[in-house]
Amino acid sequence: MNRYDEIRKAYRMSGSNASLYDGMMTYSTPLGKAICNLVWNMDGERNAAYLEQALSAIPENFAGKLLEVPVGTGVLTMPVYKTLPDAEITCLDYSEDMMNAARQRAKQMGIENVTFRQGDVGKLPFEDESFDIVLSLNGFHAFPDKEAAYAETFRVLKKGGIFCGCFYIRNANRRTDWFIKNLYQKMGFFTPPYETEFSLRQRLYNMYEDVKVTHVEGIGVFACVK
Ligand SMILES: C[S@@+](CC[C@H](N)C(=O)[O-])C[C@H]1O[C@@H](n2cnc3c(N)ncnc32)[C@H](O)[C@@H]1O
Repeated sequence: MNRYDEIRKAYRMSGSNASLYDGMMTYSTPLGKAICNLVWNMDGERNAAYLEQALSAIPENFAGKLLEVPVGTGVLTMPVYKTLPDAEITCLDYSEDMMNAARQRAKQMGIENVTFRQGDVGKLPFEDESFDIVLSLNGFHAFPDKEAAYAETFRVLKKGGIFCGCFYIRNANRRTDWFIKNLYQKMGFFTPPYETEFSLRQRLYNMYEDVKVTHVEGIGVFACVK
């Protein structure tokens, strides 16, 4: 099985059992909280803090074109899109199973300005300079071809556009590093190589302007301008 198939298989599990995944991402169920504490050394406050920082580069009342990749189950972003009725939002993910959960959530929440597309971040099906914002939450640690992912997210962003989000960085928390290497990677949820905070900053400095990189435990948070 190639890495793309392994990733699809892993996320089929999370997509079809979205309540476990969502409980973990939002620190809202007993099992989700236990995993956040054990793997990420995060309590509810830290969990909320990294997300708030990752989303803070999106202007209030944003009304332009935003690409989110990967959208996953949409648990972190549909509540944000509900507050941006004038934005034109495109969500992409490799896993139909994860994205089906996002589709259902958008429908239930009455969100009409979001379109969904299955695809690979390494071969984005969009023209150059199509989006004002590219948002990527918890994706780069999962993507199998990081170089293609960085190149493609850059290509589809307009000049002056914002690239922001978050993902796992190594060397920030030793316990997290252990779980990623020995569990999440083997299960197909994460794929190396991983950035450190330093390497992420260097990479973004080489591509973007106004680069801001910080971290909460093992999650690196970034925002920059093309
Ligand atoms: C940890 S989830 C993050 C989802 C969501 N952004 C969140 O924070 O809850 C990682 C996602 O990356 C997606 N993914 C993995 N490889 C991908 C690829 N090559 N192109 C697009 N999405 C991919 C998976 O299907 C999965 O939904």
